[in-house]
Amino acid sequence: MAQYFILLIISALISIALAFGPAPLQDFCVADPTSTARGNRVLACKNPTLVQATDFFFSGLQSPGNTTNPYGASIIPVTVATLPGLNTLGISIARLDLAPNGVIPPHLHPRGSEILTVLEGSLQVGFVTSNPGYNHFNKTLQAGDVFVVPVGLVHYQFNAGSGNTVVIAALNSESPGIIAIPTAIFGAKPDIGSDYLATTFQLDKKIVDQLLAKF
Ligand SMILES: *[C@@H]1O[C@H](CO)[C@@H](O)[C@H](O)[C@H]1NC(C)=O
Ligand SMILES: *[C@@H]1O[C@H](CO)[C@@H](O)[C@H](O)[C@H]1NC(C)=O
Repeated sequence: MAQYFILLIISALISIALAFGPAPLQDFCVADPTSTARGNRVLACKNPTLVQATDFFFSGLQSPGNTTNPYGASIIPVTVATLPGLNTLGISIARLDLAPNGVIPPHLHPRGSEILTVLEGSLQVGFVTSNPGYNHFNKTLQAGDVFVVPVGLVHYQFNAGSGNTVVIAALNSESPGIIAIPTAIFGAKPDIGSDYLATTFQLDKKIVDQLLAKF
C-alpha cells in the first residue's frame, strides 16, 4: 500500500516537472534554427562556440503593437521562436497593447503561469478555476499593479479605461503556448461539427454557423 502511495507521489511529481519543462543542464542551449532535430519541446542547441550576444537579445517592445483590428488589442510575444537564447530557460515575455475597449479573448497557456505588470492605463483581468468550482477571479489593475494567472487556466484581459493600456507579461516557459478559446472551438480546421456545437452551446444552428464563419 505504502509503495503504491509513494509511486503515486513520484508520478505526480514527474508529471508536474514535465508540465514546466526540464531544468537546463548547461549554461545555455541557444536554439539552433538550422537543426531539424526535435526533442520533447526542447530545440537542438546551437554550437556554443558560435553563440553570440545577439542570440540572447530581442528588440521590439519599445513601441506599441498595432491595435487596429476587431479586438482592439495586440500581443508582441518574445518566446524561443523570436529569441533563441530562451531555449530551455523556462521564461518568456510579451508586450500587450489594448486600445480603449480592447479585449484579449479568453485563452490559456498550457505550459506557463503568467505574471502581468501594467505600465500604462488600466486593465481588467480575470481567470476561471477548473472543475469543480469554475470560480471567477477578477481584478482591475492600474499602472504599477501586478497580477498572476496560474498555468493552464482560462483567462482574459480587457481595457475598460479611456486611454491606451500597456502591459508586460512574463511567463515561466520559453514556449508557453496559447489556446484562444473562441478560435479553438469555432476556428478549428476542419470545423468541429455544427450539430455538435449547437447542442454543446445550446444555441440555434444558425448562430453556430455564423460563429464558424467568423473564426
Ligand atoms: C495596423 O493594422 C491595420 C489592419 O491590418 C492596417 O491597415 C494598418 O496599416 C496597420 N497600421 C500600422 C501602423 O502598421
Ligand atoms: C470584473 O469585475 C468588475 C467589478 O466587480 C465588474 O464591473 C466587471 O464587469 C468584471 N469584468 C468581467 C469581464 O466580468
